[in-house]
Amino acid sequence: MRKMTLRDLDPRGKRVLVRVDYNVPLDKQGKITDDARIRGSLPTLNFLLERECSIVLMSHLGRPKGKPEPKYSLKPAAERLSELLSRPVELAATVVGPDVEEQASWLTAGQLLMLENLRFHPGEEANDDALAKQLAGLAEIYVNDAFGAAHRAHASTAAVARHLPAVAGFLMEKEIDYLSRVTEKPERPFVAILGGAKVSDKIGVIDNLGKVADKLLIGGAMAFTFFKAQGAEVGDSLLEADKVAQAGVLLERFGDKLVLPVDIVIAAEPKVGVAVRTVAWNAIPAGQKGLDIGPETVALFSKALAGARTVVWNGPMGVFEVPEFAEGTRQVARLVAGSGGTTVIGGGDSAAAIGQLGFADRVSHVSTGGGASLEFLEGLELPGVAALNDRKS
Ligand code: 3PG
Repeated sequence: MRKMTLRDLDPRGKRVLVRVDYNVPLDKQGKITDDARIRGSLPTLNFLLERECSIVLMSHLGRPKGKPEPKYSLKPAAERLSELLSRPVELAATVVGPDVEEQASWLTAGQLLMLENLRFHPGEEANDDALAKQLAGLAEIYVNDAFGAAHRAHASTAAVARHLPAVAGFLMEKEIDYLSRVTEKPERPFVAILGGAKVSDKIGVIDNLGKVADKLLIGGAMAFTFFKAQGAEVGDSLLEADKVAQAGVLLERFGDKLVLPVDIVIAAEPKVGVAVRTVAWNAIPAGQKGLDIGPETVALFSKALAGARTVVWNGPMGVFEVPEFAEGTRQVARLVAGSGGTTVIGGGDSAAAIGQLGFADRVSHVSTGGGASLEFLEGLELPGVAALNDRKS
């Protein structure tokens, strides 16, 4: 890690401003359905608490448009964190302002104050320096542990780092270590598995990983755009017509490295109880949608993964929320979990899939960042990382 981390300074007894990504999924009752991002921040928070720091926490939740919206309050996150740490976590009523300044000034060793949702303030997404100064004024050190938000140049991830010593937390460090192991010097053979609905989301990743991976396995609905580029009809499957030419370029550029599905599970709709059939990749009839990879494709992927020393997986192989179309994703999860070496799962849907299918503890790393892990795999610089202080060599 080229950036300074918490280990490179002595935070003992200091007031520390910690950016976390507690943008967690909530159900209709406002209950957290997956607290992985909150648990992921515990090593950093415990490290600071053990060193008698006081902590001002900040996060966003959802996409409120620069003004308070009660349904996006960080209250559930503050309550869950309090349970996990077994100590109180006070929630401020606003993001910044005189009351917050006073609350922060009274914090003593071991106490935590969580600011309200950063996106209740219009300055957050505008990367506003005045807001960044106000946030920085609450503490003596800034720690960014919000890997999931590192692809956003916002006041709490970018501008704030200009006003305080700015270092990475342990979750940020771990994410970057694993993802750079994949992109920089992977142990070979290195196999990347990419799925998901849209090829447009993954073109940059295919292009970047194509240069370094030994094999790129393609599943999910984005495969249909590649089928079309080879002249096949895809029935009513999802297709990005404006990306067919680009898919053709990728096929040419990476040739045999790209492994595409050879059979597809089809149905009229992705609905429970629908009649399902498996057909060859180039035999999807009109009126039918491709909704999962078939067993021959799983066998092909299994062969490609045999002996892999590094595997990265991002994006499901089909509509895995519907049991009829979950098998391809389940089998790929099983193959990834069973392969030796370093196995990294991108955040978002693939992280959810590996969790739901019960394989999360059998892989090296499940990323807490969806968009952030994709941008990292694309080879893009993440503003939230770039803003941190460089390590002196
Ligand atoms: C995420 O969930 O990917 C991050 O928290 C970023 O959220 P955003 O896409 O709303 O910026």
